[in-house]
Amino acid sequence: MEKFDAPIGVMDSGVGGISVLRVLRRDMPYENFIFYGDSAHAPYGVKSDDEVTALTDQVFEKLYSYDVKAIVIACNTATSAAADRLRVKYPDRIIVGMEPAVKPAVIESTVKHPKVLVMATASTLHGDRLHRLTARFQDNADIFTLAGPGIVELVEAGKEDSPEMDAYLRDILAPYRLQENGTIENKIDNLVLGCTHFPFAKKAIARTIGYPVTFYDGAYGTSREARSRLAEANLLTHRTTTGTITFYNSDSDQLTLCDRLLALRF
Ligand code: DGL
Repeated sequence: MEKFDAPIGVMDSGVGGISVLRVLRRDMPYENFIFYGDSAHAPYGVKSDDEVTALTDQVFEKLYSYDVKAIVIACNTATSAAADRLRVKYPDRIIVGMEPAVKPAVIESTVKHPKVLVMATASTLHGDRLHRLTARFQDNADIFTLAGPGIVELVEAGKEDSPEMDAYLRDILAPYRLQENGTIENKIDNLVLGCTHFPFAKKAIARTIGYPVTFYDGAYGTSREARSRLAEANLLTHRTTTGTITFYNSDSDQLTLCDRLLALRF
């Protein structure tokens, strides 16, 4: 097979990265994708950078064994903890990472000096990358952060839109949501979905917040970046028929959920 017709590898700690895969698929419909979810080791977001790097590298090796022409790290946590080191280890490979969409949430905002809530894993929130990113925009916005490990667990359990999700979100979003008595402690304008599991809970998050906010998802920037890196390297496929999507998961019980999440419209 010509290298330009090889598949694109997409990885995540679990099923969350399917929220990125669907955007990649929309932007590059003729490409073949291999999605590897490491659900057996999820969540990554509470592990150390060294542990996440070792796990991400294991997934890279699996994807390279399928001769992928590029890897998209559809995981903010793995990008923050491991991307720099893996780029050093695989210098000749195309590796596209992702970061919480703080930049668009500030510069594309229709609100001047918006209040922005960045939701991500604890690991992403504590990482240098996010600190650098929020520091760049701190004069133009009020930025708040919130971890949501329970969202990752519930999405992995197929409960992205469930009473359990609602109860969990009501608890963690208490300062930001419309209360039963009509008050809001800290009203936000924009909400960054800084973990790829979170877009699956977007409906539940919007319902819990209870007033209009604008959502930002890093998947769109990552997909644009992946497309332009492949185009620069002359590695976009020459096929003109819809490509295939193949799922692998370190926990094979998750494969049915992968198909269901890919088919969701949100
Ligand atoms: N989906 C991942 C992210 O984008 C992390 C979830 C996890 O904690 O494993 O950050």
